Amino acid sequence: MPLSHHIEAFTTFASSHLTGDPEHDYHIQLKIDHSLRVLDNARAILDGEKITGHVATLTLLAALYHDIGRFPQYSRYGTFKDMDSINHGRLGVLTLRELNLPAGLSRKDLRAVRATVALHNVKEIRPTTPAPLAGMVNVVRDADKLDIYPIVLDHLGKNSDSKPVVIHSLEDNPEAYSDAVFEAVVSQITCDYSLMRYSNDFILLITGWLFTLNFKTSIRLFAQSGLVEEAFSILPKDDKIKKLEEKIFTFMRYNNLPAS
Ligand SMILES: [Fe+2]
Repeated sequence: MPLSHHIEAFTTFASSHLTGDPEHDYHIQLKIDHSLRVLDNARAILDGEKITGHVATLTLLAALYHDIGRFPQYSRYGTFKDMDSINHGRLGVLTLRELNLPAGLSRKDLRAVRATVALHNVKEIRPTTPAPLAGMVNVVRDADKLDIYPIVLDHLGKNSDSKPVVIHSLEDNPEAYSDAVFEAVVSQITCDYSLMRYSNDFILLITGWLFTLNFKTSIRLFAQSGLVEEAFSILPKDDKIKKLEEKIFTFMRYNNLPAS
């Protein structure tokens, strides 16, 4: 089955959650567009890392379907916050099972795609995760982060008309950020969403994702987007943030060398 048919199956299911209410539909459309961009990002990472063949095809399917759980989640609970509703990765797997998607795959391939959907949003991947699953998950997680970054910045930027559901209802104080979030990011530790209090915390948290990317291609795409510069233009300009900025730009320069 060609990828275009999978895209059609995905969009048909996702669009069935549109209700005509502009506020509701805004959030559904956001996740439809996000899923399609994550598919594009996954393709760019696979190309850059020269991952081809069957594993690449399965990874693209997992990228397309990674957030399928978002549609029933939003329709049932009116939020994208897993803590207040349901784990959207697990709901995604249940949804794929119910719908018998992706169609036309062997049992083994179905298991791999669904496992990738289940693991795309866990805090950390277990080092014992076997290949090729680990590789598939790593591509989808990077592709996802590459797209969430501009969405969050867009909603937290200076002139944004921010939607509380998208930014998890954080306090908008342009000068404030939490020490706990800053420390996690500067120490390159995965930061927990529950530590966030201010909108700047979200910017710090997603900027810290740079250190957690799995592939050089992903770091290069992140660096080339120009969004890190935008993030630091929003954050307050004290000494701690300036040091972090230096660290992040050094990291990007170091990892952005052309492959030799
Ligand atoms: Fe997700």
